[in-house]
Amino acid sequence: MSKRLYIETVGCQMNVLDSEMVVADLKRHGYELVATPREADTVLFNTCSVREHAEEKIYSALGKLRQAKEHNPDKTIGVMGCMAQKDQKLIFQRAPYVDLIVGPGQLQQIPTLLENIRSGQGRQLAVSLGRKSGSQEVIRRSHETFDPLRDPSMRPTPFQAYLRIQIGCDKFCTYCVVPMTRGPEQGRSPEQILSEARVLADQGCVEITLLGQTVNSYRHTGEDGRVTRMSDLLRQLHEIEGLRRLKFVTNYPKDMTEELLTTIRDLPKVSPYLHVPAQSGSDEQLKRMRRGYTVADYLEMMERIERILPEAAVSSDFIVGFCGETEEDFQQTVDLVRRCRFKNSFIFKYSVRAGTKASERLEDDVPEEVKNRRNNELLAVQDEISAADNQRFVGQTVEILVEGPSRRAQKQADDGPLCQMMGRTLCDRIVVYDGNRRQAGEFLPIEISDATATTLIGRIKTVHSGPELFQLQTV
Ligand code: 5AD
Ligand code: SF4
Repeated sequence: MSKRLYIETVGCQMNVLDSEMVVADLKRHGYELVATPREADTVLFNTCSVREHAEEKIYSALGKLRQAKEHNPDKTIGVMGCMAQKDQKLIFQRAPYVDLIVGPGQLQQIPTLLENIRSGQGRQLAVSLGRKSGSQEVIRRSHETFDPLRDPSMRPTPFQAYLRIQIGCDKFCTYCVVPMTRGPEQGRSPEQILSEARVLADQGCVEITLLGQTVNSYRHTGEDGRVTRMSDLLRQLHEIEGLRRLKFVTNYPKDMTEELLTTIRDLPKVSPYLHVPAQSGSDEQLKRMRRGYTVADYLEMMERIERILPEAAVSSDFIVGFCGETEEDFQQTVDLVRRCRFKNSFIFKYSVRAGTKASERLEDDVPEEVKNRRNNELLAVQDEISAADNQRFVGQTVEILVEGPSRRAQKQADDGPLCQMMGRTLCDRIVVYDGNRRQAGEFLPIEISDATATTLIGRIKTVHSGPELFQLQTV
């Protein structure tokens, strides 16, 4: 029987990594990847529950498969990831032709569950325990992820990889569904992390991005009682030969400690790109969100970053239109963005999520048109800052890791060797230049000649041998 797999992934980097793992696992079980759901006999959706919009996208994609399933009942359709964990059997009700529902903690079971479906055992469902439905240890284990052998051909590029260092979240911000879908916060063991990082480096990976919901809160206590924190882990990973860049997302403001920042400063491979979501610039809102810090705490953190890592690039997330947000609250958010001058901000309109404290206790009382207006206004403010910030680079030379053809080049039909290429600086700034596809994976100096709010535009700087080396910006 043929095993042709199509997988579609939405959501965060964690999901991208999970999909990579599942594909690698299924390939070992004889599956091959195909480019469209039509060619596939197994279609998997790796889903996100953070906002309603992401869920609706999946239901609409599932709707498009209804007819295909009627014509070919042997086509297996599966929903994996956060939506599977959050909605469980509800998905079978809304899309009765779905065969498989698998939570983020059960992904290793997918080959067996698919086999069960093929052998006529009917629909399969595997999800983790709820956060109150067992002992802490049992709940924790039911959310453990599987991070099996890595297959470089499965990654977006063979020289870059994500590495999970932390599972779940215990912060319980009132708007957020993640502590329910991904379970309790657990740091993976440093031994496991280091051995995976060494394998990745041996496979030719030069850049690793460490993943966790609050990655800088990383903590692991060994059986001997020895505690490893994020800064310890970074120091150990920094030693790995072949690795040239270490990035990490996403951070929690309260855990951006002096010690962590000095560690980042002292380790040249570690990227001083800090994504630290503020979510709001109003103390009242931060309290309602139960973020556990005030605007003053956040500004203090920014000062700490500025003092220890003056070249750092800080970015943030904001939710506009959260319950009870007044015009004044919103203006305080605008003020915070102006004061912090973030490299960029991801801005989201509040979306009620079942199972969260906000959905139970607070009213979603900001009208949609107000959310839209605030969203656009904040975006415009941030864009103006990003554009001005990027102008600073015009005339400078930056070092980038070339990732591949730019989005513009990907859209063009021409697949000759010469095209617009895209890469990133150590601080995660996007750079495009006219180059050659073969340069993917190389570190190149690019002289910046123009800039927009999102992109630096430049050309390769020809390096002369000899002592008159150009001044290379490493940020
Ligand atoms: N509505 C809107 N945005 C949300 N986020 C998390 N939960 C919600 C929600 N219910 C945003 C936060 C978080 C980012 C990943 O998504 O800004 O940092
Ligand atoms: Fe969600 Fe808050 Fe945890 Fe981030 S820190 S994943 S926003 S609960």
